Amino acid sequence: MINPETTARLDTKAQQILRANDKGGYTVPTKGLYPFQWNWDSALTALGIACFDADRAWREIETLLFAQWDNGMIPHIVFWQHQEGYFPGPGEWQSGRTPPTSGITQPPVAATIVRQLANFLPGDHSIRVTPMLHALDRWHQWFADARDPDGRGVVAIMHPWESGRDNLPDWDAPLAHIDTSHVGAFMRRDTQLVNAAERPRNHDYDHYMALVQFGRNCQWDVKTIAEKCPFWVAEPGMNAILRRAERDLVALAMQFNLPGIVTRATHRLARLDHGFNQLWSDIAKGYTTLDLRNNKLEHRLSSGSWLSIYGGPENEKRAEIHFSTLNRWRQKIRFALPSFDPGDPAFDDIRYWRGPVWAMINWMIATGLTEHGRPDMADQLADDTAALINQSAFREYFSPVTGKGGGGKDFSWTAAMWLYWASPSAHQKTETQ
Ligand code: GLC
Repeated sequence: MINPETTARLDTKAQQILRANDKGGYTVPTKGLYPFQWNWDSALTALGIACFDADRAWREIETLLFAQWDNGMIPHIVFWQHQEGYFPGPGEWQSGRTPPTSGITQPPVAATIVRQLANFLPGDHSIRVTPMLHALDRWHQWFADARDPDGRGVVAIMHPWESGRDNLPDWDAPLAHIDTSHVGAFMRRDTQLVNAAERPRNHDYDHYMALVQFGRNCQWDVKTIAEKCPFWVAEPGMNAILRRAERDLVALAMQFNLPGIVTRATHRLARLDHGFNQLWSDIAKGYTTLDLRNNKLEHRLSSGSWLSIYGGPENEKRAEIHFSTLNRWRQKIRFALPSFDPGDPAFDDIRYWRGPVWAMINWMIATGLTEHGRPDMADQLADDTAALINQSAFREYFSPVTGKGGGGKDFSWTAAMWLYWASPSAHQKTETQ
């Protein structure tokens, strides 16, 4: 248990981090390693900002939505400022936008965050929230049209970075089909700033760059991407997050009296709820990644598998399976929840998304656990997250085995999750909605 003095010290430090990472209208994930606005980082970070500055929290979302493309996509990075040497920067993406952006998207947590903010912050939010809901509706429609053109009820990603879980072992097999012979030489910046053992390997990066080149060569044309992109994968994290976002968008549109959005989002949601079942693996006993190009289901579990209970209501039998697998995983590690199955040979406790614990994923899963009648398991996740932060400060992620912190320091979403949820003084525990 964390004592009141430590809590107060960490509360203050978390606020300081969010203020120091504030670039005026948007918050960088961390200085140096990630010096621009990142999509889901920004949305999740707004929850932490809301704990001390309501107006600034709304602004964070507004700034992100401002970068929306004409086709509805909200990009994964917005390059608000020039930063010499950042790789891959605007020149590699060639988005043709002002401000420049990347050409891909990221998990659409924003609608869920807007709903959290609207419930959490006092006052009448309709003037601010209404334009946001229109933008979110267009983004979600883009997912349906561009990423599920066949209407099968799961959306695809065209790059591992879109999942937000960059080097998850699930991508190894689908990436192996990609030709990287034309990629050429490039200089990574991340491994100059962070220990290379904690980052994706060079081999992975060649594949990441081959996909960036594919996208820019077709000028990010969604039809060409859907038909020909060599990486075309449906994964449970992205799909669960979108399902939840649609559900939250329906609720918000009802609350703010926008019947057109209610109708469209309800329709999309029904399709996603139905389609999600395609990701179920009887072998892994959970939701796993489906490689749509090669029609192959990965039978391995990751933190994305648990996000299913955040995404939507799960039937009792499957919910019980999730709970018992979660307890089994717990026996193998000290801190939950690892981003990849700790019993799998590809598990690596400190390499990014191949094992480490991420605070914001814990918050999402805890939210789902509470909603599925397991506040005890949700509290355990909050306690583990708090213990990790207490031991290793506000790092990007943590080893589930030793608790050691990895990646960037003074990380915005870790600070935000502390303030909003994991701190013993947090206003908001995982409430049922
Ligand atoms: C890494 C993470 C991604 C995050 C970004 C900025 O790419 O994998 O999820 O959005 O860093 O923090």
